[in-house]
Amino acid sequence: MIIKQKGTMDIYGAEAKKRKYVNDILHTICDKFNYGYIDTPIFESSELFHRGIGDTTDIVSKETYDFKDRGGRSLTLRPEGTAGVCRWYVENKLYGNQTEPIKVYYIGKMYRYDRPQLGRYREFNQFGVEMLGSNDIMADLDVISLAYNTYNILGLKDVTININTLGDQESRDNYRTALTKYLKPYAKNLCPDCRERLSKNPLRVIDCKIDGENEVIKNAPITIDYLNKESLTRYEKIKENLDLMDIKYKENFRLVRGLDYYDHTVFEITAEVPEIGHLALGGGGRYNGLINLLDGPSTPAVGFAMGYDRTVMAMEYSGFNFDLKEDIDVYVMYVSESEKETAAFLTQELRMNDFITETDYLDKSLKGEFKSADRLKAKFLVILNDEDLKNNEVNVKDNITKEEKLININELVEYLDSNV
Ligand code: HAM
Repeated sequence: MIIKQKGTMDIYGAEAKKRKYVNDILHTICDKFNYGYIDTPIFESSELFHRGIGDTTDIVSKETYDFKDRGGRSLTLRPEGTAGVCRWYVENKLYGNQTEPIKVYYIGKMYRYDRPQLGRYREFNQFGVEMLGSNDIMADLDVISLAYNTYNILGLKDVTININTLGDQESRDNYRTALTKYLKPYAKNLCPDCRERLSKNPLRVIDCKIDGENEVIKNAPITIDYLNKESLTRYEKIKENLDLMDIKYKENFRLVRGLDYYDHTVFEITAEVPEIGHLALGGGGRYNGLINLLDGPSTPAVGFAMGYDRTVMAMEYSGFNFDLKEDIDVYVMYVSESEKETAAFLTQELRMNDFITETDYLDKSLKGEFKSADRLKAKFLVILNDEDLKNNEVNVKDNITKEEKLININELVEYLDSNV
């Protein structure tokens, strides 16, 4: 027997219905915030992610699915959505004559060779938004507001928005220098990964899962102390506006994020989920250097991505009512072969008139059809038999009150309309 790969999921039944419900909400929210839907390829040239996300990040150095296609091209299954959106923007030269920022959102599969566990998969889904072409704090606020309101609408009221700023390039460089200088003497106290990060990507040492509780890290310099005036003012303004918008946040000066492309605002959404504990449900920030790094003109941008699977799981564990529709409107029953044609015709007719309609595909006995109708929780049964059909009539049974009525076929839709 061939079984599914570690860290992948088959989504079906009630779980699939929940996701459809969540998708509908996400599309509606993005309509309101005026983000347009985008669907970029699942595989892209490896260089896009290696360059864009950063060769020394865990995502790229340990977690990407890299492969060669039959033409010898180096490809990677996308580990996230931001780099693909920027590639699309640059490739289509969308920066020319642009008078408004570009606002797009995506919902799709991502791939990371992570250690699978509850809420962590190798094939997972993200919902994300990106705004390209604005450096104004209004753009940062738009994205944070969308993230905050999305979790709220999805019933996750107790999420925490952790925010920080890395500042502009100058501030980041200053911080990096100070941090490296501070950490060097303690190199031997750090985990093997962090010892390597120290020379390649010292910022990542700060939010290491292993060394996080280490006193050396706890006393390390923090980003806010190395911001130049401009970066600090920008950060303060963002916080002031978040207060005005009544968006609750928590400052976390050790938040640096796991991808290299960020500057200025960074944020992460976490939640304490009953029975599961602490979960990172999403994250984002500003990435003013990425489009330039991908051969486009220097273009400011900001975005956010939600861990879709984790969010649905958090909703489930928090007792969210998904309002799943479990019944159907009509079950069309036929007794013999001769009524099949009418059954097929009527089933289509009812569906095209917006009734959720089912019929028998297995040539069951009438008794079997009644059982199916009950299993499917049909509200009405349309029972066909040749005798009634001769008079152009069908027997309609209310499956709840058990009341039966002969209805003219031409009046069936109208009758059901006023009764379903
Ligand atoms: P990220 O923090 O790497 O950011 O991922 C966003 C979210 O995806 C995480 O908070 C988590 O909920 C979810 N996630 C990550 N890995 C897994 C996994 N293995 N299994 C299940 N869920 C996972 C980004 O990807 C950025 N592109 C976000 C962004 C958009 N920044 C700017 N624009």
